Amino acid sequence: MGTRPLLNRRLAGMGSTIFAEMSALAVATGSINLGQGFPDTDGPREIAEAAARAVLDGRGNQYPPGPGIPELRAAVAEHQRRFYGLSYDPDTEVLVTAGATEAIAAALLALLEPGDEVIALEPFYDSYAACIAMAGATRVPLTLRAPGFRPDLDELRALITPRTRLLLVNTPHNPTGTVLTPDELRGIAELACAHDLLVITDEVYEHLVFAGAHHPIAALPGMRERTVNISSAGKTFSFTGWKVGWVAGAPELVAAVRTAKQYLTFVSAGPFQYAVADALRLPDAYFDTLRADHLRKRDLLAEGLVAAGFEVFRPQGTYFITTDITPLGETDGLEFCRKLPERCGVVAIPNVVFYDDTEAGRSQVRWAFCKRDDVLAEAVARLRRL
Ligand SMILES: Cc1ncc(COP(=O)(O)O)c(C=O)c1O
Repeated sequence: MGTRPLLNRRLAGMGSTIFAEMSALAVATGSINLGQGFPDTDGPREIAEAAARAVLDGRGNQYPPGPGIPELRAAVAEHQRRFYGLSYDPDTEVLVTAGATEAIAAALLALLEPGDEVIALEPFYDSYAACIAMAGATRVPLTLRAPGFRPDLDELRALITPRTRLLLVNTPHNPTGTVLTPDELRGIAELACAHDLLVITDEVYEHLVFAGAHHPIAALPGMRERTVNISSAGKTFSFTGWKVGWVAGAPELVAAVRTAKQYLTFVSAGPFQYAVADALRLPDAYFDTLRADHLRKRDLLAEGLVAAGFEVFRPQGTYFITTDITPLGETDGLEFCRKLPERCGVVAIPNVVFYDDTEAGRSQVRWAFCKRDDVLAEAVARLRRL
């Protein structure tokens, strides 16, 4: 096979994710896993039953339609109207994907040419870097810095070049918990319009906002026609294994994303699509309870982390808390996280893996609080040993 590396050079250095390493460490040491962001309690029973019924009734067991089943596309359109007043045509402006992950991949592969630049909020969710690389494009980080983790719009303006094609916006933002304000979104939208940029927005934590409200950038003037709006059922309904996601946007954008998507998975999760259509139509009480439960969990873990000596950046959204380990006399988050399971039986994620500017994230550590209250209480008790 010669000396040529097997792995495509665009993926060099992306061997395995930090989540795999840390989750394996959690299993090996019997630690509480506050690393990977998945709930330890499944979503609503009635939605699980709807999925089981779909399987048993023979709905979705064979290839569903390429764009997604009509019931789910209609439910996504209804959801966007109900919560944000955005109207999308379910037939031409909504596409069902294998989770937000596939939506992000398909959108980037469809809309980028080699050499294009993509500006993304850093620290970024790990699939962004990989998909931008697979598209042959270049990522350009707009760094959110502690303690506030706000985007600097002057810095954003300065990062835009003639090669910039796309802004990749994630709000609520993983891992910092930043929820972009209407003013920040307006500033980003104005720059996108002024420079004729496309925008991809990852809104998978849209229903986990504790301060302020979630505002889709697509609702701002001039943005609907240039924005690919992405979300999924995983976080909102606590069924992360179902991998049902969606794209909403103008017909030309959705058609482009669909072209790439059809050669990735073509279709997925047939029976689950029926169940997610029901989930999106759950009454307001469901979404209110989800938020209230996670707010309580956030505060439980945040107080425990403060008591253990961390600097805690309380998130406005998502189910992650970012902390700084400097007050504990530590400086290297990666080393800290590798040793933490041995030291006290808890697993967390070093934020440095989400940064190009590794100095900016070196001493930050991320904790997931989408866990049962008793699990969080036990984690807090163990962290006191620090
Ligand atoms: C910011 C962000 N985007 C996308 C995803 C993936 O979503 P899905 O499971 O629907 O593919 C995650 C999951 O952790 C995430 O944190």
